[in-house]
Amino acid sequence: MINQETKERILEACRIEEVVGDFVSLKKRGANLLGVCPFHNERTPSFTVSPAKGFFKCFGCGKAGDSVTFMMEHEHLSFPEALRYLAGKYNITIEEEAPSAEMMEAQSQRESLFAMMDFAKNFYVDYLWNNDEGIAIGLSYFRERGFTDDIIRKFELGFSPDKWDGLTSSATGAGYKEEILEKAGLLIINEQKKYDRFRGRVMFPVTSLTGRTIAFGARILKTDPKSPKYLNSPETEIYFKSKSLYGISHAKKAIVEKDVCYLVEGYTDVISLHQAGIENVVASSGTSLTVEQIRLIGRYTKNITVLYDGDAAGIKASLRGINLILEEGMNVRVVLFPDGEDPDSYSRKVSTVELLEYLSKSAVDFISFKTKLLLSETAGDPIKKAGLVRDIVETIAVVPDAITRAAYLRQASTLMEMSEAVLIAEMNKIIRARNNRQSEEQQTPVQDQAGEVLDNIEKEYAEEQLINDEHSTEVHEEEIIRILLNYAEEIFPLPDFNKYLEVEPVKGKQKKKGLGREAEEEEKPELQHIKVKDFIFDVLKTDGISFTNEGYAGLLAEFANLITTEADYDAQSFINNLNPDLKPLAISLVTPKYELADWKSKGIIVRLDKDRIDKTVVDAMVYIQKKMANKKAMEFQNEIKERSEVGADIDELLAHYQELINLKMVLNRITNTVINK
Ligand code: UTP
Ligand code: MN
Repeated sequence: MINQETKERILEACRIEEVVGDFVSLKKRGANLLGVCPFHNERTPSFTVSPAKGFFKCFGCGKAGDSVTFMMEHEHLSFPEALRYLAGKYNITIEEEAPSAEMMEAQSQRESLFAMMDFAKNFYVDYLWNNDEGIAIGLSYFRERGFTDDIIRKFELGFSPDKWDGLTSSATGAGYKEEILEKAGLLIINEQKKYDRFRGRVMFPVTSLTGRTIAFGARILKTDPKSPKYLNSPETEIYFKSKSLYGISHAKKAIVEKDVCYLVEGYTDVISLHQAGIENVVASSGTSLTVEQIRLIGRYTKNITVLYDGDAAGIKASLRGINLILEEGMNVRVVLFPDGEDPDSYSRKVSTVELLEYLSKSAVDFISFKTKLLLSETAGDPIKKAGLVRDIVETIAVVPDAITRAAYLRQASTLMEMSEAVLIAEMNKIIRARNNRQSEEQQTPVQDQAGEVLDNIEKEYAEEQLINDEHSTEVHEEEIIRILLNYAEEIFPLPDFNKYLEVEPVKGKQKKKGLGREAEEEEKPELQHIKVKDFIFDVLKTDGISFTNEGYAGLLAEFANLITTEADYDAQSFINNLNPDLKPLAISLVTPKYELADWKSKGIIVRLDKDRIDKTVVDAMVYIQKKMANKKAMEFQNEIKERSEVGADIDELLAHYQELINLKMVLNRITNTVINK
């Protein structure tokens, strides 16, 4: 156990900007430093580090803490592990305190396995460099492969003696029990005999995130058809195959810096790329890619580039694994090496500059890679092509982000020469089927035909919302643009919002924020009339709402122009003058969402937007405000939780949070009354 005094010395030595800076690239911003948050997915940096306070804090996701919490959160370390890491970083000698009996019990097993693996690693390294057999067979093999001495030392490569008890006799001599050798997967004990698992092989230590040895990969050098080329450690209490990545401890810093991780097949690929100066590389050696491995990479970057050797069978087998990466919301690109080459062999053949150029030039996104790969097999066969289309669209459908999906669909439509509308329809079918599967039990039976039609419409709406992120305002943005395009110049009676503001005052004064300036004016006997476009821009401006979707934001900007130039809106000329990027979107939104003729024939009375323009417009604005308020509320909750955990003052936050809750109540009243009347 680390004693109290050492603990304090470690905490004093830590410079938060250095600790965080090892994992996140930070830029100076006044007294603080700013970077892209490693704890959530963001494009614009909101992750702040304060050297003066020794704290980090993300204004996007709310994560906050000091050097120790950063290491715990970011590297998934326990408290003592984080302290040990920091002690190492700042050259502080740890003074131990005798641990309690039960702590010994809990910790000793894992710790003794780590110690055992560390001993074994050092033994194999020593054997490689200092023993005649090791030098003649192991070291000369690595050198012939083209590995430099530096790189051999960096990856702590070693050699296991070609004896039954090479490691075991050395380890037991040093006081390690056979039992622990066996638990560590180094010694095999059966009824007949005991023997070292690894013999006469070159050794590749597999490390944890922090660089501790947790397993070995071992390559045979003789040609022996009875033995596998590579032998790997079994899983132990410290080694979980599906959760470890070869090379991660050496790669993580470069992955953050380059904001991309190269994924290769094996040990030698990782090492050769390192030697060529490319350090942001890991291998999922031995297993096919797992979700845990992808999430591990996802802590450092959202971009994965898979490097394939030119072997077609291998590629097709791994396509499935890549869907997993897409499902995790990561961006996947693919580099295909020329036939017969793998990253290891290719990097030894060409210069680093050429290699880097090859990587950047031949990286294609996964969807077009897969499309092109499969398309070549479907030439002239419409049935095969239909299968391909479904396959590709299914892959696109796993992407969680709607905007990314749309971009992929567009690209796939070009590549497959299929209309985008067909692909969209196909994808909606897949997503709908998926959602239906998920909510099967919750569905209510439909009463009659009319009810069925309405149910379907509602379901589609619900699905549309489901597809969007919890806090995405995209559907509301669409609705607002649709209203502007169709009814910008309409005048409607503004409901009297004051009656919704009668909330029990909390902490003094009541803020009437969030409803546009009209809401803040005194009660009026007569309802005020206002133009649709004026009302919308008023609310957007008062609440500082901007649109996230590029297309809707573009159209909104066009409307803003209209307002500043005080020109009247005319649908025809407005759309004609739009730039070609925005035109299709605008056109799709001025066309009615659902075909109404059908409904009428079924005797359903349809409320047209125009009949209830006040309701439609107010609804749209209140819903986007609610979304924003919910998002804010969640951020506040996180921050309050975070701060109270570290014992910081939260009074002011609580007050703001209460204001927000009041606003949400007001907004709820409006949607519950105005809307349903
Ligand atoms: P290779 O077969 O190319 O291994 O597999 P190598 O050591 O580079 O052999 P040569 O010199 O080309 O013949 C590439 C990677 O695949 C993994 C290893 O990590 C290796 O680095 N691999 C290969 C295994 O894990 N197990 C195997 O049986 C074979
Ligand atoms: Mn190879």
